[in-house]
Amino acid sequence: ADAVLRRGASSSQFFPRAFSSGSFPERKVTILGAAGGIGQPLSLLMKLNPLVSNLSLYDIAGTPGVAADVSHINTRAEVEGYAGDDQLGKALDGSDVVIIPAGVPRKPGMTRDDLFNINAGIVKSLATAIAKYCPNALVNMISNPVNSTVPIAAEVFKKAGTFDEKRLFGVTTLDVVRAKTFYAAKAKVPVEDVNVSVVGGHAGITILPLFSQATPPSNSLSHEDIKALTKRTQDGGTEVVEAKAGKGSATLSMAYAGAVFADACLKGLNGVSDIVECSFVQSNVTELPFFASKVRLGKNGVEEVLGLGPLSDFEKQGLENLKPELKASIEKGIKFAREN
Ligand code: NAI
Repeated sequence: ADAVLRRGASSSQFFPRAFSSGSFPERKVTILGAAGGIGQPLSLLMKLNPLVSNLSLYDIAGTPGVAADVSHINTRAEVEGYAGDDQLGKALDGSDVVIIPAGVPRKPGMTRDDLFNINAGIVKSLATAIAKYCPNALVNMISNPVNSTVPIAAEVFKKAGTFDEKRLFGVTTLDVVRAKTFYAAKAKVPVEDVNVSVVGGHAGITILPLFSQATPPSNSLSHEDIKALTKRTQDGGTEVVEAKAGKGSATLSMAYAGAVFADACLKGLNGVSDIVECSFVQSNVTELPFFASKVRLGKNGVEEVLGLGPLSDFEKQGLENLKPELKASIEKGIKFAREN
């Protein structure tokens, strides 16, 4: 069985279609906020993933419809829809992975931090329920501001006595997805071959793509090109917010990124070796308590937080520039969780 699992190891091989679901263990994945702009396409993508045996869709309303709809797709996962507070426990019970895209998205002119007042409370209540009903699940936090919502969840779990730093992840995969796409276009290399790490956090200048380490390497890119690629990656979310002109932020590309990250978590849980993705986790890579960098995933979640590798002078400067903002966002989350 191990050999079979290993063959699905490449992270570019998103759907290991070639194998019957009989080869994979039972895994329950729960999506909190499943009726939303991200939640619906993410529910679809997780229904297509053969590693999922049970797909639990929760929102404050609307989930029975989403669940009935995706449940008709002829794939392995059994789908259940849950709506409202009194069904949250049942939705979470027995979850291996909980993905959280619950909360309000940005409108033009807003920063991710402008969402704090609403989303901090939502994340706190959902984390409280996770601590109670599925304390061992891997938590994939999508709700913004990720730089603050991950510390909030950590505080809630600490207070409940369930915190395990190996099991809490801020989903920064969309930054990686964007960096890969923009780099491939500029460097004129096939996008499916591209690998780029993105470190730091998930807002504005805290998003630090490491193009100096990108593969395949490009020597056709000037310093100005790298600066422009960095800025475009940092502003990628705002590009979508403005194009949607008041109708929300990235949902389809975010659902894809969320599905890639959850798939990596599932592969890690299933013992597939060499599963590495960037994520915002508790970290010793810098002096900040949480930081995004490459993480090796395994049977218990984070197996190893990988270091940053050699940085260019431009990246070293970017790293120093992002620290005060990231530190403040982390502290804001911790303070909220302690005082509310
Ligand atoms: P949306 O408004 O379309 O959907 C959010 C859903 O959350 C709604 O269905 C709503 O009913 C639900 N919800 C609200 N309170 C809830 C609660 N207490 N329990 C369960 N569900 C609840 O928003 P969208 O576009 O799906 O975005 C969701 C979040 O994801 C936002 O905070 C957004 O900023 C964030 N996001 C994060 C990204 C990342 O890279 N990490 C990228 C894009 C968005």
